[in-house]
Amino acid sequence: MLVDVLIERGVFVRIGAGARAGVGADVRVLEGRGRWLLPGFIDLHAHLREPGEEYKEDIASGLRAAVAGGFVDVCAMPNTKPVNDTRAITEAILARSREVALARLHPIGAITRGLAGLELTEAADLRDAGAVGLSDDGRCVTSSSVMRRAFEYARTFELPVIQHCEDHALTEGAEMHEGAISTRLGLRGWPRAAEDIIVARDCILAEAAEAQYHVAHLSTLGAARIVAEAKSRGLRVSAEVTPHHLLLTDADVLGYRTACKVNPPLREQEDVDALRRALADGTIDAIATDHAPHARADKDCEFAAARPGMVGLEICFPLLLGLVKNGSLPLGRLLAALTDGPARVVGLPLPRLSEGARADAVLVDPNARFRIERATLHGKSSNTPFLGREVEGAIDATLIEGRVVYQREGAREAAREGSEAKEGTP
Ligand code: DOR
Repeated sequence: MLVDVLIERGVFVRIGAGARAGVGADVRVLEGRGRWLLPGFIDLHAHLREPGEEYKEDIASGLRAAVAGGFVDVCAMPNTKPVNDTRAITEAILARSREVALARLHPIGAITRGLAGLELTEAADLRDAGAVGLSDDGRCVTSSSVMRRAFEYARTFELPVIQHCEDHALTEGAEMHEGAISTRLGLRGWPRAAEDIIVARDCILAEAAEAQYHVAHLSTLGAARIVAEAKSRGLRVSAEVTPHHLLLTDADVLGYRTACKVNPPLREQEDVDALRRALADGTIDAIATDHAPHARADKDCEFAAARPGMVGLEICFPLLLGLVKNGSLPLGRLLAALTDGPARVVGLPLPRLSEGARADAVLVDPNARFRIERATLHGKSSNTPFLGREVEGAIDATLIEGRVVYQREGAREAAREGSEAKEGTP
């Protein structure tokens, strides 16, 4: 379907054939023939490293990467240095993001002070300062009594509790998924049970507290099953999955590839298949990048010393469009998991391409092929195992409240050439 979209003062005012009629020459035109216009994406899980590790990423570079990936809203995890566990830090992060004025940043405050897992933070203060959820991401709140109080507290303030599900007693010294490959490589394994146990326990605690619970970077077949069961009983439970857990397995670690060291670790094919099914059937609500920038020195080293994590903001959509194109994921589910799904978890407005709605949108060229390279990434770090991979589907432009906050180099020219070519099917 070919439509014109007219935006005025940050809002879609007319959508449809002929919306251009009567519009003056002073209007900026973005050519979108052959392209898809999609609602702006929301990322529930990014590490922007400011304050404290600005050599890896900062709020400006992270939000540049975000808009290059089509994200208009980004939730920032609190494992900064210092940890975002107070009103003052939440406010400082928000103030900086407003200066940067790219994607909107939504801070996530820590569940416990210093992510130490012991003493709860002031959830009311964090919420009043603008935090949209609570998480100790990078660490798990392993104490059941602390987690129980966290749920009771968060419920009072209507904040979701987002758990990094890892029973640390089962993962001490672990470097990758526990299985045949870890044995072969001689690396200590991180068993699935360490994740499943926490997800199951938290569902029980969340149910008792009537709290909202969200599973960060869900990676196992068993955890998906537990979430499905909790949802079927009407609990306020949701889950996210990362692109890398949908696309890679522990076999990718062979050769001691530090680029594939991540927490939770890459699992096995049966987990990947289960995660794809869970995303397709709605058990998993959101795709989250877990954008985790690290310096070269943090990855160009022996496996044991390498830091876990990979960047993902710019490449999330093209990578996952590949799953749509090969028939592994319905397009509707991919889009819902990048828009409505995450919006519901943290209570943001549902993104809509409709007259009267805020003009947040992504213009995608579904057929543009490109190779993921350091030079195509916009953040400060390029730690991703997908370097060198050819993908199909590029973000041509990102708009936030009608402002073009990103435009792909060469996209305008490509759009003009594309007008000769076939039209896209949104
Ligand atoms: O791989 C990861 N890296 N997982 C996490 O939970 C934290 C993250 C980071 O901050 O680097």
